[in-house]
Formats: sequence, structure tokens, C-alpha cells
Amino acid sequence: MNFQINSFEEYQEAYKKSVENPEQFWGEVGDHFFWKRKWNNVLNWNFTEPDINWYEGGKLNITENCLDRHIYQNGDTPAIIWEPNDPTEAHRILTYKQLLQKVEQFANVLKNNNVRKGDRVCIYLPMVPELVISLLACARIGAIHSVVFGGFSAQSIADRINDAACKLVITSDGGFRGSKVLELKTVVDDALMQCESVEKVIVLTRTRTPVSMIKGRDVWWEDEIKKVETQGNPSCPAEEMDAEDKLFVLYTSGSTGKPKGVVHTTAGYMVFTGYTFANTFQYKPGEVYFCTADIGWITGHSYIVYGPLSQGATSLMFEGIPTYPDAGRYWDIVDKYKVNIIYTAPTAIRSLMAFGDEFIENKDLSSLRVLGSVGEPINEEAWHWYHEKVGKKKCPIVDTWWQTENGGHLITPIAGITPEIPSYAMLPLPGIQPALMDEHGNEIEGNDVSGNLCIKFPWPGMLRTTWGDHERCRQTYFATYKNMYFTGDGCYRNPDGYYRITGRVDDVLNVSGHRIGTAEVENAINMHSDVVESAIVGYPHPVKGQGIYAYVIANHHIDEESTKKDILQTVSRLIGPIAKPDVIQFVSDLPKTRSGKIMRRILRKIAEGEFSAVGDITTLQDPTVVQRIIEDAQKMRK
Ligand code: WTA
Repeated sequence: MNFQINSFEEYQEAYKKSVENPEQFWGEVGDHFFWKRKWNNVLNWNFTEPDINWYEGGKLNITENCLDRHIYQNGDTPAIIWEPNDPTEAHRILTYKQLLQKVEQFANVLKNNNVRKGDRVCIYLPMVPELVISLLACARIGAIHSVVFGGFSAQSIADRINDAACKLVITSDGGFRGSKVLELKTVVDDALMQCESVEKVIVLTRTRTPVSMIKGRDVWWEDEIKKVETQGNPSCPAEEMDAEDKLFVLYTSGSTGKPKGVVHTTAGYMVFTGYTFANTFQYKPGEVYFCTADIGWITGHSYIVYGPLSQGATSLMFEGIPTYPDAGRYWDIVDKYKVNIIYTAPTAIRSLMAFGDEFIENKDLSSLRVLGSVGEPINEEAWHWYHEKVGKKKCPIVDTWWQTENGGHLITPIAGITPEIPSYAMLPLPGIQPALMDEHGNEIEGNDVSGNLCIKFPWPGMLRTTWGDHERCRQTYFATYKNMYFTGDGCYRNPDGYYRITGRVDDVLNVSGHRIGTAEVENAINMHSDVVESAIVGYPHPVKGQGIYAYVIANHHIDEESTKKDILQTVSRLIGPIAKPDVIQFVSDLPKTRSGKIMRRILRKIAEGEFSAVGDITTLQDPTVVQRIIEDAQKMRK
């Protein structure tokens, strides 16, 4: 069996085999990686607990697969190309040889700072090569990384550090983002006032923003590297890890409570990200691949770092934002490095579309061969713009559907090999067995049907647990439907059997491709002293995909304008600017059932401006609230 699928027939064969004989299929895929000791058993699982084990008994280190094994033949191939925020600053290229050397060096820094196998390390860094080095250095010594996106607040960092009891934090003085400087170390300092588990903070110099360095706790990255250099032996042997040893934890929002720490383990995650990277994008040796995501999200973990590097690819990472210094920045980067594959998000495409075509028209994009999309359903208009203006109608678009919990792509076209239709994720990759379920828990067979999307059989990249709370993992993903992983997404299967994701069916919003839990935002708003109660819903937003609409009951003496600002500030402080509501409407009451449950369906319709579509309101405690909310909403729209 070929590792890389070369034709539609090969896809069909691989798919068939992966369903009929999954262990043989994934065993053969696993043979394309480097093991210190081969596994005894490919798969051992049940979805009831859940208890999922891939490549049982196998011993390996993911960094040997991402680095060491490429050195002999491809040591001088660029592993990471880094494009800075400011286009006049020099870019950096790290070959596989150089990256390995830096990873070993920093792994020794971690050891010097008392980090051991199994310890948790929180990483809060801007998009600089040292972020990749940090992840891999953790993996080198078997420490578990927990990356926190740079847009999260001190409170969010503290919650994540405390949940996993992180021992060490890696951050920088600051980060450049467009014309702004983010004071990352200061945010970490605020967070650490609440964190007892943290012993050390390693601070990278990036912006030269003044920082306070606490004696005994805070050390400079550069000083620690010098210490390692004077210690003599720069190498750091890769820790032997068990296939199911934890590789990392990454927090993501759900419909209830605080974000949960999705746990991925070593072997299955490695095999799945490597296999899906090579196949979905049809990566060819020597190509330059550019994923625009931030490593703070799963897309960056799987498709900037682990997937591409395990395949010996050249992965381009970008520190800045698509609109700085102007809305042609991505296209300048494509031209500068002759990028062959670009992988971005619909929200970025829509925002660039809105700036007009003059930013793209004179750029040389002829190197592009494949275009990718991720994070939310891509609307047809954005798909066509991407296809015509970026791909010049000659590049396949892979609309990759997957989730933090999945590790890698589940449903997606394979570039140039399986068919594509705008706004469809199309067909499952080999190994993925989707099922559409009705509200009674029955599988809906046949085509031209819609239901809740589940996966019937394990795949190597799936989550194993949620940090510190296995029961929450079971409840969230494995309890809704018996013997199935429930995705939380709705899905349509068309007459030809192609899948189209229709969006979340739970109370999770997707704002600019970021997952945000309504309960989390409500809890933050409710912390404001003048707020009695609130309800959050999503509404269609032309650029963000979904916007956040907040209905707030406040004490009556407030000044609405200044309270709105205070609420935004509160949300920024407690979660981060990404969770700030786009619209705040003060209401005197919320539509509730007699049992006190908020009827979000009604609030969603009002947020969408579909005032006559609120539907049946007779079961409400007080149906007259609806009319009052509608009247105020109409006034706000004027
Ligand atoms: C949504 C991002 C439609 C979906 C990798 C999913 C998508 C959630 C697509 C996961 C897509 C992601 N088409 N919807 N191609 N990709 N989604 O965990 O609702 O940040 O459940 O992972 O994003 O978001 P997450």
C-alpha cells in the first residue's frame, strides 16, 4: 500500500481496507515512521469508558520522527521558514539540522530548569521559531506542553496553568502583531499571582518591551542557552516514550463550564497528522507549505509543527496579521517564498475579499498548487474568490473539516484526487467512518439526509481524555450516542454521498474560526457588578462567520453606554479580546420556559433580525417579553 494516495481508485481501495481491516491498514501506515520498538497491538479500544489505545507497546519519540530521521538525507532542507511581522526585518530559515540542534539545546535548558518527563509546561509565545523549538524540546524530553494562544487573558492563562498544574512557563517580553506590541510577560505576571505550581518562567527576548524579572523564578532564554553552551555537550537524547504517553494538552471551549484540556498522545497523533498532511495536501518533496494559523490552536500544532515536520516538509510560519502593512501581505509572502500550498481560514479570506482585489491583482501567485481551508464552513462566495483570485482556477481547494479533539483532518477532499464542491467537506479520509444520527439515537442511512455527525470507529489522532476529568470526556463526546464519538456538528449528506458540515448543534460559537462557548462568555459578563443575568447567541457575521450577540439584564440605574464598555472590558479581562460581544442589547427579561430554561432559539432569531420567525412562544413563562425584546432590537438596528 502506498503511503500517499495517487488516484481516486487508490483512495477507494485505501478506504475500503481501512474499514474492513483497520488494524492492518493503520499498521501499514505506522510502518512509515521511526520506532524505537515496534508495537505489539495496533488497536485496543472501547467507546464506553472510553479507553483508546493505538500502537500498544510501541516505543518512540515524536521528535526523532520530526527531526533526526530527516538529517541524514535532508539535513539542509529548510524545516521552518519564518516571516516576521515587519516585512523589513530579516526572515529566518532553520534547516532540519539547525532545528534539531536548537531543539536539543533548549531541551537541555528545560532539564536544567528541573523539567522532567510527564511534567507540564505552559507556552505563551508569539509566532516566532522559538515557539516551534519549545514544543519540540518538550516532546524531546517527554514533558507535556500546553500552548495558550497569545490572545487569551491572564485569567485564562491562570485557569489553564492551574488545571494542568504546569511547572514551568515559556513566554517572551512581548509580541508584534501588526502595528501593536502585546506585552506577553506582563500578562503572564498577572496570571502567575494565582498559580502556585509554577516554579520557573523562561523569557525570550523579542520586542525589548520592559519586563519585571522576579529573582529565583524568571530567567532569560538567551542566558539559559549560554549556560548550556558552556556545559559542553549540546546534544540531548530523545526520551523513549510509550505510544500512549501524553504528548500535549490543548484547551478548547465546549457548551458548558470552563474550557477543557483535550489530551493527545504520542504515536497515534504522530501517525495521523503525518498521514493526513501528506495526503490531503499531496505534499511533494521540496515544496513550500504555508499554514497561516497560530500555533496556539490545533491547526498550528498539527499542520505547522508535527504533520509537516514528520514528513520532512518545509513549513512556513508567519508572525504577523494578513492586513499588515496592507491587505496584500499573504500574497507578498506567497510571491517571496514561491509558496506551493497555502492553508488558511474562511474568515481571513472574507476579510481580504472586503479590502478589494487591488491587493491581489499584481502579485505573482503562480507557484501555488493547492489551497486549503479550515476552521468553519466556507461560504460559496469566499470559495469562489479563493478559487479564482488566489488559485487562478487551477488549484484544488481542500475544505478540511476536523476539530481540536480529532488531531487531524477527518472529512476533506484529497487535493486533485477526490472531487470537490464549494462549501462541502466531501468524503471521509481513510480510517474515518462517519454516521449521521437522529434525535432518537438512530443512525440515518442513505443519502440526501441530515443529522448530527458522529464517528463510529476510532482513528489514531482522536483525543484520549480531557485533562484531570475523564468523566467529562465521556459525557461530552461518548455519552450522547452509544458507541459513537459525537462531534457537536450538524451535517448533510447529499444524493452522491458527499458531506456538508452545517455548523454546531450545541451552544458553541465559531467566531473567526475560534471556538467560543456561550456559557463561558455569559459567566464572564455575569461577573460585572451591574449585571443580573445574560444570554449569548451567535448570529451570521459577514467577516467573522458568526458574531456574538449578548442579551443582558442589568440593574436599572446604569448608564447603558458606559456599562457596555465595562462589559467589554470585563470579557477581555476574563477570557480575552476574542470573546468580546459584537452586540449588547439590554433587556428587562429573558424568554424562559416554565422550568426556567432560556429559549435560545428565539434569541437567535431576534439576533438574526428574523423577527417574524420566532416561532411558538406559548410555552414561555411570560410570552410578552419577546415583543419587548423585538421592539428594542428594531430600535437598535435603526
Ligand atoms: C468547525 C479547528 C465546517 C466545526 C480545526 C468544528 C468546520 C469546529 C470546518 C472545530 C470546516 C472546522 N467546515 N466547519 N472545514 N473546520 N469547523 O476545535 O464546527 O477549533 O466542530 O478545530 O470548527 O473547531 P476547532
